[in-house]
Amino acid sequence: MESNDRSAAGLQGRRILLGITGSIAAYKAAQLCRLLVTAGADVQVVMTPLAKQFITPLTMATLSKHPIRVEFFDPENGAWHSHVSLGEWADCYLIAPATANTLAKMACGIADNLLLTTYLSARCPVVVAPAMDLDMYAHPATQQNLHTLAERGIRIVEPAEGELASGLHGKGRMAEPETIVAFVRELLADGTTSSPTLSEKKKSLQGKRFVVTAGATIEAIDPVRYLTNHSSGKMGYAIAGELARRGAEVTLVSGRTALDTPVGVRRVDALSAAEMYEATTAAFAEADGAVMCAAVADYTPAEVADRKLQKGDGEMTLVLKRTRDIAAALGAAKGNRLLVGFALETHDEQAHAEAKRTKKNFDFIVLNSLCDAGAGFRGDTNKVSFIDRAGREDMPLMSKAEVAERIADKIEKHLVSCSAV
Ligand code: CTP
Repeated sequence: MESNDRSAAGLQGRRILLGITGSIAAYKAAQLCRLLVTAGADVQVVMTPLAKQFITPLTMATLSKHPIRVEFFDPENGAWHSHVSLGEWADCYLIAPATANTLAKMACGIADNLLLTTYLSARCPVVVAPAMDLDMYAHPATQQNLHTLAERGIRIVEPAEGELASGLHGKGRMAEPETIVAFVRELLADGTTSSPTLSEKKKSLQGKRFVVTAGATIEAIDPVRYLTNHSSGKMGYAIAGELARRGAEVTLVSGRTALDTPVGVRRVDALSAAEMYEATTAAFAEADGAVMCAAVADYTPAEVADRKLQKGDGEMTLVLKRTRDIAAALGAAKGNRLLVGFALETHDEQAHAEAKRTKKNFDFIVLNSLCDAGAGFRGDTNKVSFIDRAGREDMPLMSKAEVAERIADKIEKHLVSCSAV
């Protein structure tokens, strides 16, 4: 009930152009359309010719209460379907499902159907929900196309992991309609109407690129077991979302979490400390700054058994080796880029946090004390202190979203002083 109310609040009266491409996930477009209409949105649908093979125009016309557009003109009477006016009409152009083929054409500016010409004409925010087989999704060509689209401000609703139509299991399933609706609602709540568009709003971090690490890493012991920690990822996800809201291009390197990717954020999954090291250092090479929020394992099993370990009668010893310190590596190479760290402490907090700040070359460190009620793992609140060269600043207990705003404010101030150097 609550989520319906929230959907309605953001979508009432909004004009959503729903683009459907030729994927088996097109069947979910019916539910997507229904949810949007129920939430009060006015929905028009444009389909690629192939999409008609997966879901009928009759179904979509009935649900959207508008005729469907597929061709540039109506062959019966020659009426022209104007891609320009469709693009102008919409507050948001949502392409769901978006196939690898359509994403590639969008990235290249190919305009060989009505859905694509409308994309090229659209002035409103554009959201794509990719749907494809796992190998197509992971292919460097598709990843490059998504990166290109993200750089141009296209919002991407990350596909989920799970069973695919091919019978394979992996990442590529279109996000669930409820997730997509929540994404669009949040996006439109961030803007006001189609005019001014999101891109015209003042964005204080426009043109800046950030890497944010978040969540818990997991270190395999054998194919069945692993070592991990209690981090939920909520703080890092909130920071990634806040930086994106301020116009930054954000790569979120994510360990294990159960969270949805924040609006406008490019997410890279990196489960182990070693994977996170690779993904974060690669993304930092092109970034203006990084926020190191992940709870990274300091140790990993020295050897990973390739078969399930069998128990014996006695004790068992697991030999661990050190992982690489991602933050320290970024700190050593950072130049005058911005680096923000976190410290979660249980005792001697100030001294430990200060030591980490200097050792890892953080511009400032966000200290959480597990001694403070409402701070730390899993919850939706946090109580933090900022420590930089100038000293310590204590914040009251706040929601993680508010903490993320304060961190983004502090990042903006530090960026000004970095550029003044
Ligand atoms: N960090 C990292 N890579 C690691 C370990 C930590 O990037 N392998 C980052 C964390 O994301 C955080 C900061 O370093 O921003 C401090 O992490 P923490 O685990 O508290 O500090 P450690 O240096 O690992 O010290 P200790 O575990 O001994 O407290």
